[in-house]
Amino acid sequence: MKLAEQLSLWSRAIGRGVFPHQMAWMLDLPGRGAIMSAKTVADRLPLKPNARVLEVGPGSGYYSVRVAQRIPDGELTLLDIQQAMLDKSADKLRAAGLSNFATQQSDGQSLPFEDQTFDAIFLVTVFGEIDARDAFLDEAVRVLKTDGVLSITEHHPDPDFEPADTVEACVAAHGLTPVQRLGWRWAYTVNAVKGAE
Ligand SMILES: C[S@@+](CC[C@H](N)C(=O)[O-])C[C@H]1O[C@@H](n2cnc3c(N)ncnc32)[C@H](O)[C@@H]1O
Repeated sequence: MKLAEQLSLWSRAIGRGVFPHQMAWMLDLPGRGAIMSAKTVADRLPLKPNARVLEVGPGSGYYSVRVAQRIPDGELTLLDIQQAMLDKSADKLRAAGLSNFATQQSDGQSLPFEDQTFDAIFLVTVFGEIDARDAFLDEAVRVLKTDGVLSITEHHPDPDFEPADTVEACVAAHGLTPVQRLGWRWAYTVNAVKGAE
């Protein structure tokens, strides 16, 4: 790869905007679990064994395996704007012996699912990358079941990090009720519930 291409990838990886799939290895760096482990993310989701769960922006699948393991009778749907990320996360799930998953390429502005499909939707270090945030949240509310949970996790050093106050205000503006803020200022999860319409 040419030097200019390498520099461009590095600047996209450490700058704001969609994280480039060519740098997905950075998402799997040893030590990341000390900041936000897969167990922590899964523990913060309300997962029944038969739950239907949507993960937006799985990237390399760092968090996908643990969640899919928790829903052996359910299904994890992975949705990412980059097909190459979906290929990587699907490979990771298959390597872990899991088949209870599906993939969908989309930018999140419209979610190609029926109303009231998912028990939970989660995203980790993705919220700040989504350009059309209002459209995404409208769609997330539509495809969540009543009493379903939208779980947004953010942690540093993500360049698109959004503070918990901002995330709570955004989800509340779309009719969701923030019910939990877990973790601490620079590595947290906000869980918000869809009430009855
Ligand atoms: C920083 S990575 C995080 C990956 C994974 N969640 C993790 O924490 O390891 C951001 C991911 O969100 C995806 N993404 C960014 N904008 C998106 C959008 N509008 N719709 C769907 N996926 C998006 C990127 O392609 C990338 O896979």
